[in-house]
Amino acid sequence: MQIHLEQTPVESLECDALIAVTFEGKPNDRFKDSLSDVYGSGEVAGKIFEMTLVHHPQGFKARRLLLAGAGPAEKFTSAELRRVSGAALRHLKSRSLRNIGIWLEGSCGGPEHVQAAVEGAVLGDYEPDRYKSDKKDVKVVDHFTVAAPGGGAALNQAAERGRVIGEAQNSARELSTEPANKLTPTSMAESARQTAAAYGLECEVLDQDRMRQLGMGSLLGVAQGSAEPPALIVLRYRPANAKGAAHLGLVGKGVTFDTGGISIKPADGMEKMKYDMSGGAAMIGTMRALAQLKPPIPVTALIPAVENMPGSRAQRPGDIVTSLSGKTIEVINTDAEGRLILADALTYARRLGCTHLVDAATLTGAIVVALGHVNTGAFGTDDRLVERVLEAAHAAGEKMWRMPLDDDYKEQLKSPFADMANVGGRPGGSITAALFLNEFAEKTPWVHLDIAGTAWLDEAKPYMSKGPVGVGVRTFVSLAMNWSD
Ligand code: BES
Ligand code: ZN
Ligand code: ZN
Repeated sequence: MQIHLEQTPVESLECDALIAVTFEGKPNDRFKDSLSDVYGSGEVAGKIFEMTLVHHPQGFKARRLLLAGAGPAEKFTSAELRRVSGAALRHLKSRSLRNIGIWLEGSCGGPEHVQAAVEGAVLGDYEPDRYKSDKKDVKVVDHFTVAAPGGGAALNQAAERGRVIGEAQNSARELSTEPANKLTPTSMAESARQTAAAYGLECEVLDQDRMRQLGMGSLLGVAQGSAEPPALIVLRYRPANAKGAAHLGLVGKGVTFDTGGISIKPADGMEKMKYDMSGGAAMIGTMRALAQLKPPIPVTALIPAVENMPGSRAQRPGDIVTSLSGKTIEVINTDAEGRLILADALTYARRLGCTHLVDAATLTGAIVVALGHVNTGAFGTDDRLVERVLEAAHAAGEKMWRMPLDDDYKEQLKSPFADMANVGGRPGGSITAALFLNEFAEKTPWVHLDIAGTAWLDEAKPYMSKGPVGVGVRTFVSLAMNWSD
């Protein structure tokens, strides 16, 4: 799908369908008269995601007009526009329309609106249908044009930003949906290498031998149950003229499949555990966008990639491993593997000089109990960094909610035999998981995002297909782009 910005009067835009955002109880003045029949019939209430298609609209070169409901005008934000744009595009795409426009003017004609509308369209266009052989039902949109009359250069940049970010998020979604027989730690590393080569990032992949030399016993313990060797993927972006001393480290859980290991998971729904690398995918997607958008600070992404399998060499409950930090861990439950691989990746990120750390991981079922599928759980001890991340999330239209991280919960991680246990029981399961990670972030400002409930859609939304979400990409891009010391 190609993205365009058109600044001439909207009436002259030729397309199969022109999307016009419609608010609740407020008929658009421009069509009050020409569409008086449609409005008069009560068909257009402007409710969110309500779609009304009008053929041959008077005074427009567009062949159809799609009145896309956006809810009450007072509650309208660019986040809402992102969703409306995606929902409208999906509505038209399902009708085989290939040349689509969206009209943004007045109160929704600013750069943030243009960017959001393009992001929404690019995200709405994505389908996880790579392995479907029957393509007869596959619909394709060729052009998406933002009609923003008289906007200027800032709008062109906004449209381009929207395209870059939307496509980066889709690339994360594509990785997340890859099945584990296609996406192994090795092929995930290969994919990161290709991204680096295509967009001009540095890429280094630490193999098993290197990790052994360094002493990453916590990560290697998880990997040893699988015939697939692990990989620690490192992607680097360095700005031409770095401002200040900050160096952002983005750490993403890359478990290409989580069987649970010897503490094996039930069969029901296990197939979904191919998405247990969604944190890692988000970081690779973020780096792809940053390589193009060029933030003012250096950013390093680290993705520990492993497969958690119950092979004959698998670690056992009760095993004690020594992490890169030197801290020993009693592995009570081999299914709590995410924190074990992130522990060594966080220590390594600090060694590489990262001054601020953000990790994303499909870490616990407990966060799904706490926050459902709406909010990502955000944890951190550094209030300023937590606030920055939440602000970036808000600006990017990704919902996140801060969770507590009191030391009192740490009791639950005590082990009689090692420095700590890898699980802390059922109560506050996502909090003890975060506290475990905190031991490895140490004094470095750090935020942990538990995306177990938000990285995958079990049902399609009007604006997005079911399946992988690519959650986090927009937040991390916004965080890096707007960084100031
Ligand atoms: N990958 C899972 C977490 C998960 C669960 C993600 C459900 C998405 C949906 C993680 O590795 C895991 O298995 N966590 C355990 C931890 C427990 C053993 C303390 C969990 O949440 O059950
Ligand atoms: Zn697990
Ligand atoms: Zn897992």
